[in-house]
Amino acid sequence: MNETTGGNGEGTRAVRAGLPEPVRNEPTLPGPVFAAHFHLPGEVGGPYTYGRDENPTWTLLEQAIGELEAPGQDDLQTLVFASGMAAISSVLFSQLRAGDTVVLPNDGYQVLPLVRAQLEAYGIEVRTAPTGGDAQLEVLDGAKLLWIETPSNPGLDVCDIRRLVEAAHARGALVAVDNTLATPLGQRPLELGADFSVASGTKQLTGHGDVLLGYVTGRDGEAMAAVRRWRKIVGAIPGPMEAWLAHRSIATLQLRVDRQNATALVLAEALKGRPDVTGLRYPGLPDDPSHKVASQQMRRYGCVVSFTLASRERADRFLDALRLVDDATSFGGVRSTAERRGRWGGDAVPDGFVRFSVGAEDPEDLVADVLRALDESAH
Ligand SMILES: Cc1ncc(COP(=O)(O)O)c(C=O)c1O
Repeated sequence: MNETTGGNGEGTRAVRAGLPEPVRNEPTLPGPVFAAHFHLPGEVGGPYTYGRDENPTWTLLEQAIGELEAPGQDDLQTLVFASGMAAISSVLFSQLRAGDTVVLPNDGYQVLPLVRAQLEAYGIEVRTAPTGGDAQLEVLDGAKLLWIETPSNPGLDVCDIRRLVEAAHARGALVAVDNTLATPLGQRPLELGADFSVASGTKQLTGHGDVLLGYVTGRDGEAMAAVRRWRKIVGAIPGPMEAWLAHRSIATLQLRVDRQNATALVLAEALKGRPDVTGLRYPGLPDDPSHKVASQQMRRYGCVVSFTLASRERADRFLDALRLVDDATSFGGVRSTAERRGRWGGDAVPDGFVRFSVGAEDPEDLVADVLRALDESAH
């Protein structure tokens, strides 16, 4: 851990994560370094040579994310990417070769089927199973890599990371966990034994809906060297401005997740009483099917609540009637968003399925807006 993080509390860690040692008359968090190349007289060497390989603004952000993903562990590496998909692809495509087998969730982020098709086109066998009930265990034999997404987006099922890791490692497979929905303050996959924690920083990690970012944190030096090489080859790098904005946003991560996640639970409780709401899911609800496993491995349950209304038309009317909630995709931002997920066509969800991302509004205002919109959209 960086000396400057001092105390051990999560909020303390978040506000100080990745800060360099103080330098008199310099800013606390140095501004973005805009550089395609760096002075490099003579032989090639030193940390910064060309802007596709390394950048000082990334270095500080990578340090910050590493401190949150695995506090106190110095033997890990973090690499930042242009988006969550760039980070995901960098792990899958750098670790797998023709003839290898990978296990993916069949209920994960909706771009995974596109990734699957590409992996198969490269001669990699792809097996899938649902997240819930640790069903991926059944298809692990012979796999080189297990990909877990927990809680899953948008269904919010949860699997037992430690159990899956033990089974995968016993078979010689590496394990990557998509930690997007939980954030490192909600769940720390490396401490649960995973080899990679991978996430979209576009969501709650940065939380303002204005940055696309991704990252991979891993412990295995050889595997991470391959991920780093992949980033260099593909060039899926974040801009210095995005990296800096992300670092600045991480300072408020604990404030945001505590507020948003607490309100998500309040909203879920309020929706429980509604006869027009079915299929309500929130891993923080004590009677949610995910709650038991989630409570063993998560410290916070996320800001996403999902539920189903009777029809596509009803869900559209509901979204239209909301005043404090933007009809928009993505999740994790301080401004609440919701969408009828079926409009994209990629998820196996009912027509009236709504994915709701709870923001930082006053809980009573948000709940009142949602209940009013439900009433108004009933007919
Ligand atoms: C669980 C999950 N993983 C990965 C991604 C991809 O992230 P990005 O949009 O930053 O590429 C998303 C995006 O919604 C996601 O929800």
